[in-house]
Amino acid sequence: MGHPLLRQVAQPVDTFDAAQIDALLTDMEDTMRALNGAGIAAPQIGVSLRVVIFEMRENPRYPHVAPIPFTVLINPALTPLGTAKEEGWEGCLSVPGLRGVVPRYRRLHYRGLDRTGASFERSVEGFHARVVQHEVDHLDGVLFPQRIEDMTRFGFEDALVGQMVPTPD
Ligand code: NI
Repeated sequence: MGHPLLRQVAQPVDTFDAAQIDALLTDMEDTMRALNGAGIAAPQIGVSLRVVIFEMRENPRYPHVAPIPFTVLINPALTPLGTAKEEGWEGCLSVPGLRGVVPRYRRLHYRGLDRTGASFERSVEGFHARVVQHEVDHLDGVLFPQRIEDMTRFGFEDALVGQMVPTPD
């Protein structure tokens, strides 16, 4: 947090160079797994392109969180389904040690390109919708603390034990 690249609007991937994309995705996946994240965006590893990945495996630490298949999403376009939002605790690999309550659209349609450049789309809800909104915010230069509406529910993870629902970064 604070790095200028994390405040920039990232560029779309226009020429689809498979080798370049594969190398970027490998770096992103290695970083996400090493830090136990649920998702990561290319600007978080210093690449200002509109590429995000995310995945949520079954994890006993987060019993309330439904699994999400490993997903590569390039040049994403999001459309909220309805106006309903819900609050949830979030963290971020670029904001280590901190957690805050962020309102997000509950249901969402998204489309984009996969790692081969083929387009795909999904309608999702709950934590899956939250993760996509969080990661795509990174492509527009927005970090989760900027979305917090009640700053009394923002703090250090260690200090918030017992006051929050644990969530992955
Ligand atoms: Ni993040």
